[in-house]
Amino acid sequence: MTTIDPRALRNAFGTFMTGVTVVTAHDADGNPLGFTANSFTSVSMDPPLVLVCLANSSQNYDALTQADGFAINILSEHQKDVSNTFARPVDDRFACVDWRTGPHGSPVFDGVSAWFDCSMHKTVEAGDHVILIGQVQAYDTSPTPGLGYARGAYVTPMAEAEALSQNANLIVSALIARGNEVLLVDDGNGGLALPEIRVGKDGASAALTKLIEASGLSAEPGFIYSVFEDGAREHQHISFLCQAADGIPAKGCFTELSASTLMDIADPAVRIMLERFASESRMGNYGVYYGNQTSGKVRPIVSGS
Ligand SMILES: Cc1cc2nc3c(=O)[nH]c(=O)nc-3n(C[C@H](O)[C@H](O)[C@H](O)COP(=O)(O)O)c2cc1C
Repeated sequence: MTTIDPRALRNAFGTFMTGVTVVTAHDADGNPLGFTANSFTSVSMDPPLVLVCLANSSQNYDALTQADGFAINILSEHQKDVSNTFARPVDDRFACVDWRTGPHGSPVFDGVSAWFDCSMHKTVEAGDHVILIGQVQAYDTSPTPGLGYARGAYVTPMAEAEALSQNANLIVSALIARGNEVLLVDDGNGGLALPEIRVGKDGASAALTKLIEASGLSAEPGFIYSVFEDGAREHQHISFLCQAADGIPAKGCFTELSASTLMDIADPAVRIMLERFASESRMGNYGVYYGNQTSGKVRPIVSGS
């Protein structure tokens, strides 16, 4: 076996982009405890299981491995300070966040993208870590975008989109999908288009909220699917992929992206994006596109699971 340089290996592991969580529980005296972890993984749907890896060196090792359960708090983009606090030797880590005791008994945080309050299913020793496997007893989610982490740095795509939206010429479109169909509207010139809106001073996410409200559907705001410069129309364009629940759209209709439908999309940049969406939907994995209307890079999307 070749010798492995631990630092180089750590860097290689760090290329895997993750979210950031804070794992919480109560110790035997009822005191709240928690630590920052990006080793969270969803494991099973039936029964609903999740896991997180805890270093054997953790000051909370005994309390966590003996706890009845633990909660996973999926931090949102504006909770970098919470992540830093729960990764450092701070006296009262819980002072930096509003929290309450969850339905199964572990601390759950306000302002997170999601939390999962779990009973302890199993602990598995694994090298210098222990794997805590929890069974989800209760959970909640919010549309707040999650905080990302890669190569030792935080990643905040929505904040970047907001920064982009300071640009006066920014259009936001909503790629509202339901099954293998997408909501398309009349572009006013005999062609088809995605619902879109020029971004005002309130920024990109407010524009997206307006678009979703105008669609008459209940749809989750979702994630950035594509960011591109539309040279032909002289603007920047951010398209958000949103999953729609049931309901009849106020304008337009859900349409399968067949070759003939794609031909009716008048804007060539949007047509190219929807061709990619149609092929990625067939394969079931999506990427984020950054570039102009003809060339750019597709980066894989990191989802919660
Ligand atoms: C983004 C991030 C992710 C981390 N992920 C983990 C992890 O998955 N498991 C772990 O044991 N420590 C992880 N750590 C380190 C712990 O948060 C850190 O060592 C903390 O001080 C442990 O606290 P404790 O000793 O009070 O448990 C992570 C730190 C950061 C900043």
